[in-house]
Amino acid sequence: MRQKIVAGNWKMNTVYKDGLELATAVNSLATKKTSDAVVIIAPPFTHLAEIKKVLSVVKLSAQNCASEESGAYTGEVSVSMLKSVGAEYVIIGHSERRAYYHEDNAILAKKVNLTLSAGLKPIFCIGEVLPERNANKHFDIVKSQLAEGVFHLSPVEFENIVVAYEPVWAIGTGVTASPEQAQEMHKFIRSEISSKYGEKIAANTSILYGGSCKGSNAKELFANPDVDGGLIGGAALKAEEFLQIVNAF
Ligand code: 13P
Repeated sequence: MRQKIVAGNWKMNTVYKDGLELATAVNSLATKKTSDAVVIIAPPFTHLAEIKKVLSVVKLSAQNCASEESGAYTGEVSVSMLKSVGAEYVIIGHSERRAYYHEDNAILAKKVNLTLSAGLKPIFCIGEVLPERNANKHFDIVKSQLAEGVFHLSPVEFENIVVAYEPVWAIGTGVTASPEQAQEMHKFIRSEISSKYGEKIAANTSILYGGSCKGSNAKELFANPDVDGGLIGGAALKAEEFLQIVNAF
């Protein structure tokens, strides 16, 4: 059966010392967690190698990766570099990457391929902006993000994908999707996966919710049958609150 996952996306927050302290605190609290959720943190690139050394029960993710394998790409970080410092996951297609760095589905599909070929698992982010939801286009948007970003994969490859539904209007706004809105979209995503790869793979795929998920609302979101956990931004920067979310299952 599919895994429950709570992943913390730290975004561009914490200097090295603070990041190391936060990771140490999260790992320590996670050793006493009361849920069976897999706990993942995604610190900035600069912290990954040292943070890996203080983790035991918590898994390590990067927030992004290069769309090329290696070579003359100044400033980029490759999947093999991430693998070499102990990362197991890579967040791909976060709405902030899509919006501010113009990453389209074609680039994201390349990143997904490279991530899988390095033996890492993509946490593939999808989600609509508010005008798209208001125009009732949110299902179409999510459908095309899946089709163009990950549905080129073989069934065996797709089994390594974690999907994160993050409605852009809920990210960092304090406006959380209602449990009904989350369940409705997660169910739709699972049905799309089922149409493409069959019921068994769809039932085994973890689909996370992201967007103003916090200690106070995680329980009602995670109570939905198709919500398998969360991708957490702001609330992942406080160890106690992050673990409250982990323990919300
Ligand atoms: P917030 O939890 O801060 O809304 O961010 C969600 C997010 O973007 C996680 O990737």
